[in-house]
Amino acid sequence: MKFVGENIAIGNVLVSEIAEKYGTPTYVYDEEKIRSNFRKVNAAFKKYYPDFKMFYAVKSCNNPAIVNILRQEGAGVDAASVNEIRLAKYVGLDGEDVMFSGNFLSDDDIKQGLESGVIFNLDDISILPRMLKYGKPEILSFRVNPGYGKSNVGEYVTNAGPNAKFGIHPDKVMEAYRLAKEAGIKRFGAHMMTGSCITDPEYFPFVTGLLMDIIGKVSKELQIDFEFIDLGGGLGIPYRPDEEGLDLEKAAELTSAMFVKKCEEYGMRRPQLKLEPARYFVGNAGWIVGRVHAIKESYKKIAGTDVGMNTLARPAMYGSYHHIYVDGKENEKRANIGLCGQLCENTDFWVKERELPESIAEGDLIVVENAGAYGFGMSYQYNGRLRPAEVLVKNGETMLIRKREEFEDMIRHTSVPEYLEK
Ligand SMILES: Cc1ncc(COP(=O)(O)O)c(C=O)c1O
Repeated sequence: MKFVGENIAIGNVLVSEIAEKYGTPTYVYDEEKIRSNFRKVNAAFKKYYPDFKMFYAVKSCNNPAIVNILRQEGAGVDAASVNEIRLAKYVGLDGEDVMFSGNFLSDDDIKQGLESGVIFNLDDISILPRMLKYGKPEILSFRVNPGYGKSNVGEYVTNAGPNAKFGIHPDKVMEAYRLAKEAGIKRFGAHMMTGSCITDPEYFPFVTGLLMDIIGKVSKELQIDFEFIDLGGGLGIPYRPDEEGLDLEKAAELTSAMFVKKCEEYGMRRPQLKLEPARYFVGNAGWIVGRVHAIKESYKKIAGTDVGMNTLARPAMYGSYHHIYVDGKENEKRANIGLCGQLCENTDFWVKERELPESIAEGDLIVVENAGAYGFGMSYQYNGRLRPAEVLVKNGETMLIRKREEFEDMIRHTSVPEYLEK
């Protein structure tokens, strides 16, 4: 995103042109930014640990065009469900290029996960006997809860530690691998995902040490030659203008050093190191272009826009901050203004007070920053406010990569029993 005079452009296209062509609200992604985000992480980690591979967690933004960009860069897919495995296959990724990390799986999930032939990553020891009823995967890993997790955006996305629903308790990890080995499974990896959006580079080596102390003991006692260790996602981006970003180079250097040290300590042959970033790839490469439709002067001034919590759930769901620009008015005098969507819910009043241009008015365009991750994927249709369009920008050109929903999408798959039609 950049300013052209007073106006805002994404990937060299003015947001006013995007709004005119595709309407509002619209998610806009910058292809070059996604590619450069991927390359930054890849280069930083490969420099210190060459046997390094990344899996894009498609839950964060599942548009096949975006997944294809990351596939072209060399990423595999981290899938949270059978349908996400199908999405990976749809873009041409399969087998060991896909990790299936679902949780609290149904028997049907387990069966389909096995049949899919991708790497199966079990969230609990209890899934193992259920899985073995249907067969054995070629390669298996367990998601370990190493006892500690963290997040810059609150406990909602702290995915490890005593309050998390994810992963196997450290005390049960040895037993899990023992049972899997006894069942005849021959190839193993290990996994964790302890938290999302972390900008402290020291955090990554710290949790790597915790995981490796658990896995190193398993490797030694059970004589398991781990083929990979997957440290999950979590690479953070700054959401507030005054926030510092992650020192990626430092995170990569310290994490690799810890990884190598622990491999040596436990006499492990060096496994492949994997990461599953999502937010870092697409978070700051996506924006929402919306429009102000009404201004209310009540107990306070509220600007009503077509960007609601159904368009971007994070602020209402997690209390997350997203920076907002008003096109053409950035240098104007500021006042405290609230910003809401059009839903019949007060939680849709998702910015209670923000310093915005005092002259904000009907018809103005707003641009919501850092909306690329956990944005469209969490959008929904409440109140008949349907899901927005998605547009990709490259070399100053825009491409529609998902049509805006229409009324037919709202009633799709419904049926009315005949007697109710009378
Ligand atoms: C299993 C798993 N891997 C990777 C990610 C991606 O995390 P992030 O967006 O923090 O990189 C997530 C996100 O929740 C996840 O659940």
